[in-house]
Amino acid sequence: MIKLVRKWGLPRGRHVIITLEGSFHGRTMAALAATGQPRKREPFEPIHDWFRYVPPGDVEALKGALEPGDAAAVFLEPVMGEGGVIPLDLGYLREVRALCDEHGALFAVDEVQAGTGRCGHWLSISSADVVPDVVALAKALGGACRWARSSRRPRCPSLPASTRRPSAAGRFPAPPPSRCSTRSSATGSSRTSPRWVSCSGRGRAAGSRRYARRGPRRGLLNGFQVAPGIAAHDVVDGDAPPRALASTAGPDTVRFTPPYTITAAEVDEAVKALSDALGEVAS
Ligand SMILES: Cc1ncc(COP(=O)(O)O)c(C=O)c1O
Repeated sequence: MIKLVRKWGLPRGRHVIITLEGSFHGRTMAALAATGQPRKREPFEPIHDWFRYVPPGDVEALKGALEPGDAAAVFLEPVMGEGGVIPLDLGYLREVRALCDEHGALFAVDEVQAGTGRCGHWLSISSADVVPDVVALAKALGGACRWARSSRRPRCPSLPASTRRPSAAGRFPAPPPSRCSTRSSATGSSRTSPRWVSCSGRGRAAGSRRYARRGPRRGLLNGFQVAPGIAAHDVVDGDAPPRALASTAGPDTVRFTPPYTITAAEVDEAVKALSDALGEVAS
């Protein structure tokens, strides 16, 4: 995705990619450079300097960053996962689309964590009724196995043919059949599958049970903020870890991203388990 955007931008004198402070885009060098968390980048400095970071939700800051006319793309997660499970304001996402069009930049989205149905739509950005130019997808595409891809808007007119040739990125050998079958069972065949829609309902159910300060959520991407003085890490990984799989997203957010196959009863069970673990830590 980053290479594709650069390949599009460089001949146009656009070498910068704008990303959001607090974002997370991966651990390879370029993805790490795109990541708007200095703590994660610092151990690897000096690092690529062609990313420009702006605060999420700040339209004026984004306008300022686009103003020089050197940006190839704005690249963001519609729901910021590792940064604390923060769904971006839908109005902001529409503004980003409009500003990209106005300034001639691509709108590239990272749907690695929030996409492929987890938030109730094939792409989480569909909640804002926005069509991006380029999308990065992974995670559910391969179940627990590694599988990723990026998709380009079919009508994105000006991507040079060289970015569409396989040689622009290289390829792994074709994945084995077991992985293909994992992929199709995770994603189903329909882009409007009831499976995605029900993710949204079960996510609401998880979010409506209070066991910590209410947190952000969209579909089955839930974040629960723990009260001040409690470390999220102690809740998921402390002396009495919950009987439910959870992770952290920043120091004060417990993240609950169950598999799509979770049932409503299992959501209840997991929420109770997390609640009990929180109680242990708080007492
Ligand atoms: C939002 C987001 N983007 C990118 C990545 C990196 O994905 P990969 O590990 O497939 O490179 C992750 C990994 O967790 C992620 O959450």
